[in-house]
Amino acid sequence: MDKNKELIEKREQSKLGGGEERIQKQHAKSKLTARERVTLLLDEGSFHEIGMFVEHRSTSFGLDKNKIPGDGVVTGYGTVHGRTVYVFSQDFTVLGGSLSETHAAKICRIMDLAVKNGAPVIGLNDSGGARIQEGVVSLAGYADIFYRNTRASGVIPQLSVIMGPCAGGAVYSPALTDFIIMVEDSSYMFVTGPNVVKTVTHEEVSSEDLGGAKTHAEKSGVNHFTAENDVEALKKVRDLLTYMPQNANELAPEIKSYEFNKTKLDTINTILPDNNQLPYDIKRVIDSVVDDNTFKEVHEDFAKNIVVGFARLEGKTIGIVANQPASLAGVLDIDSSRKGARFVRFCDAFNIPLLVFEDVPGFLPGTDQEWNGIISNGAKLLYAFSEATVPRITVITRKAYGGAFDVMNSKSIGADLNFAWPTAEIAVMGAKGAAEIIFKREIASADDPEKKWLEKEAEYAEMFANPYRAAERGIIDDVILPSETRDKVIAGFKTLEKKAEELPKKKHGNIPL
Ligand code: HXC
Repeated sequence: MDKNKELIEKREQSKLGGGEERIQKQHAKSKLTARERVTLLLDEGSFHEIGMFVEHRSTSFGLDKNKIPGDGVVTGYGTVHGRTVYVFSQDFTVLGGSLSETHAAKICRIMDLAVKNGAPVIGLNDSGGARIQEGVVSLAGYADIFYRNTRASGVIPQLSVIMGPCAGGAVYSPALTDFIIMVEDSSYMFVTGPNVVKTVTHEEVSSEDLGGAKTHAEKSGVNHFTAENDVEALKKVRDLLTYMPQNANELAPEIKSYEFNKTKLDTINTILPDNNQLPYDIKRVIDSVVDDNTFKEVHEDFAKNIVVGFARLEGKTIGIVANQPASLAGVLDIDSSRKGARFVRFCDAFNIPLLVFEDVPGFLPGTDQEWNGIISNGAKLLYAFSEATVPRITVITRKAYGGAFDVMNSKSIGADLNFAWPTAEIAVMGAKGAAEIIFKREIASADDPEKKWLEKEAEYAEMFANPYRAAERGIIDDVILPSETRDKVIAGFKTLEKKAEELPKKKHGNIPL
């Protein structure tokens, strides 16, 4: 019996982490402890911890007298909505959640189990980085994790929640995972902190401005989802997981009960303005097609000219990629191409069918775009769509101009079904620009060049600013009323359910990175 008591005491000691005082400090910063976070993330009572007695083996700088069972990371498995997940949660109360050799080994163990058992791995990050007293062994520990992140990529979903510091090389583990969720005000990510930045570039910048949740959500695109606090972040993870399969060999779970408010079919016809130069919000179109309240936008604040996210159609997960006319007229640029490409690849890796809404005037011109590589970045989106073997449907709502038409999941790059609304304009470019080029001489020699230009613009628009030339050639499969869209895409995805397409045998492709 004494032995049982000893175990219970040891457990209690491990659960205390760095002690009551440091737990208070954590709470004072509006941060939950590592264990509180795991409890909120997982279904009630489902967590089973492993490695709670693991201790570090370092003796330098007095560390031999500072051993805390668990060594600064809580690891184990449990369920989210009844499905298995593996989790690690760094404990900032233990040596600042710093990563030692053994701390890394615990994370690797969880990742290995997740891969072997085909279940997602979720990392809750809150750490001062490599355990400084340990030196190189902790660095090797990071590399062990990076290696596993990479090997697990496309095999199981990997989600990272940043709930405190994540600096230096430590940022690269989350960066290698599929989605990052950052907590506002209490988390930051950067390769070098404000002090180093000041020394090297003489810039004065706060941690928050350099690498806080907002910065990475809006400027770098490193952060996919921002949460107001720990509780909201963990809720977001639980919700996000409902859209994903457990691994690359499975399908996302089907939600049996869903709703669709049919009055949306009346309003969808009125979303597009009469003037094709005016913007509208593509999210209204998305909401009018998918199951009620199921659209889960990813990267909401980054490259807003493209909208990506998960949704459901009759309870089944789909991935949506849509040009956004309400931002930069929906043009494709470097950031939107990168954003779209990464999302397409996630969906393809995890058997999530893709629905594309297209209204794109082309690629963004300018030296900034050209010099920063719109060519290779635009090619990423083209590559991602071309490579995807999941069922793919495109709906052209309005403009489908130029190379951007090809890129946005055209049939020629493997889309299975392409539909167009009657308002679609499928052409090499807009009528105004086209008339200016091909009728240049006629316009110049006319008595009233402006009038002539308008005349020729109308002529070109008559010819191409509609979906019928493309439909005649079979470039699109059907012209549909906006109100028919939901039914058409549901039926389309049903016929594609058993789609089996293999890429040519290769080691891997060479996406233009
Ligand atoms: C060991 C660490 C630590 C670390 C923090 N602690 N970081 N111990 N190794 N990396 C300890 C502190 O000594 C302190 O112990 C406790 O954790 C809490 O830290 P505080 O500084 O009191 O907390 P706070 O004021 O909130 O500041 C947090 C912090 C700061 C900003 C993270 O601790 C910090 O700057 N730490 C060092 C960050 C760093 O340079 N890490 C190495 C990066 S290089 P006590 O006992 O007092 O509670 C790296 C390389 C990875 O990570 C490479 C991979 C390729």
